[in-house]
Amino acid sequence: MRKERIKIRELLAGGVPGQQVVLGGWVRTKRISKNVAFIALNDGSTLQNLQVVVNPELVDLSVLDEVYTGASLRIDGRVVASPGAGQALEVEALKVELLGKADPEHYPLQPKKHSLEFLREIAHLRFRTNTFGAITRVRHAMIFGIHKFFNDKGFLNIHSPIITGSDAEGAGEMFRVSVLDANNPPLTEEGKVDFSKDFFGKETNLTVSGQLEAELAALALGEVYTFGPTFRAENSNTSRHLAEFWMIEPEMAFYDIHDNMDLAEEMLKYLVRYALDHCMEDLLFLQSRQEDEEKQKKQEDRSMPLIEKLEFILAHPFERITYTEAIEILKESKPNKNGKFQYPIEKWGADLQSEHERYLVEKHFKKPVILTDYPKEIKAFYMKQNDDGVTVRAMDVLFPGIGEIIGGSQREERYDHLLARMQQMGIPEKEMWWYLDTRRFGTVVHSGYGLGFERLMLFITGMGNIRDVIPFPRTPQNAEF
Ligand code: 4AD
Ligand code: MG
Repeated sequence: MRKERIKIRELLAGGVPGQQVVLGGWVRTKRISKNVAFIALNDGSTLQNLQVVVNPELVDLSVLDEVYTGASLRIDGRVVASPGAGQALEVEALKVELLGKADPEHYPLQPKKHSLEFLREIAHLRFRTNTFGAITRVRHAMIFGIHKFFNDKGFLNIHSPIITGSDAEGAGEMFRVSVLDANNPPLTEEGKVDFSKDFFGKETNLTVSGQLEAELAALALGEVYTFGPTFRAENSNTSRHLAEFWMIEPEMAFYDIHDNMDLAEEMLKYLVRYALDHCMEDLLFLQSRQEDEEKQKKQEDRSMPLIEKLEFILAHPFERITYTEAIEILKESKPNKNGKFQYPIEKWGADLQSEHERYLVEKHFKKPVILTDYPKEIKAFYMKQNDDGVTVRAMDVLFPGIGEIIGGSQREERYDHLLARMQQMGIPEKEMWWYLDTRRFGTVVHSGYGLGFERLMLFITGMGNIRDVIPFPRTPQNAEF
């Protein structure tokens, strides 16, 4: 069937009346009237269903007896101009073949609105809904756009390892990778688990970031990026955290923090533009579903319509301020004074929560903000230390509705400064000798950042929960499918 089959997207774009076609797809609805039947067929290539007209003069209608929502069909037919409103073309069936039945008593997806919570429980079938079809197509376009952006700039894509022996972020929220018998592990003389007997001869985990390896590559190849899965065992059951998420991590030699910010802003705008240019049909659908969802909300709590929000990002330069300036704004802010923040901002040094990030972006500046120069105590060991001795050249990009979408920094390229910071933070230099080596041999100023792909997807699609922008979410207590 593959060679003869035409996708609905192609047919609607370039089909001509009279053309003979073969279609394969899944039934969204079936409607039978006295002398004709209509099937709305979807094959995932586009949001639009194709109307298939089944005329009893051409096809024995009894084949439709067992055709219900969800069934798969092969249609051999002829393209005709559609008399109805909505689409220009439809297909008149010459032959209908029922490939796979979907029993209406048990098939959970019926032609009505299902809640997103319910759809998460049937994630194996939710691809068949308009919402998840649209999200999946947009997700694909974004993946493609990211590779295109970097490829056009001459960046090299690096596959960083997924199994690692180091904790790049030093946050210790890692998933162990082991083949030892959990019930009866070998023990050392001190009675601890003896990981020297494990597969790799040492303790290993799933990576939290590909950055450290990307740095090694950047310090030879100039401009590189990784785009891979990352894993965090943090117990954050929020609408913005996953235990398994995808991250894009560019790393560039000869870039300082300003070059880094310029690249991050350019990339985000490019990707928004890419979505508007390539996914308009799906974005318009997602916009209308967001509008439906927001009808329950009060006027002032409603967000901008999706397309307008995306255009807005393109129209304004991101605000760039230091952490210290942000703390001053937050300290003086109304919600802080009225006790509206769950975590009140009392003094310099406080870690920013998403409520603070969103206040800065949504209420104060009303546009994306890049915050730089955070206290070193709340950032990772590898960030370039400022001369003030207390801040580092970190940069976080904050987005409306999301909070932190990118985290990055200029890197500490000075061997002695890096070593001292690692010692202060208790990061074993014995395990990181290879990272330190790049600062011993031919070190240069360099920078990079990590974009959380699903956070980007939340922004582009206007969806409210990160579990709905990845096909099979991994979250605490949940690894079904
Ligand atoms: O700020 P993070 O932890 O930075 C790093 O991992 C650096 N190594 C990146 C770099 O400089 N190369 O994470 C980067 C981004 C965050 O801004 C956020 O968008 C996303 O990754 N992120 C998550 N997304 C979904 N679920 C989680 N649990 C996430 N944790 C971080
Ligand atoms: Mg971060």
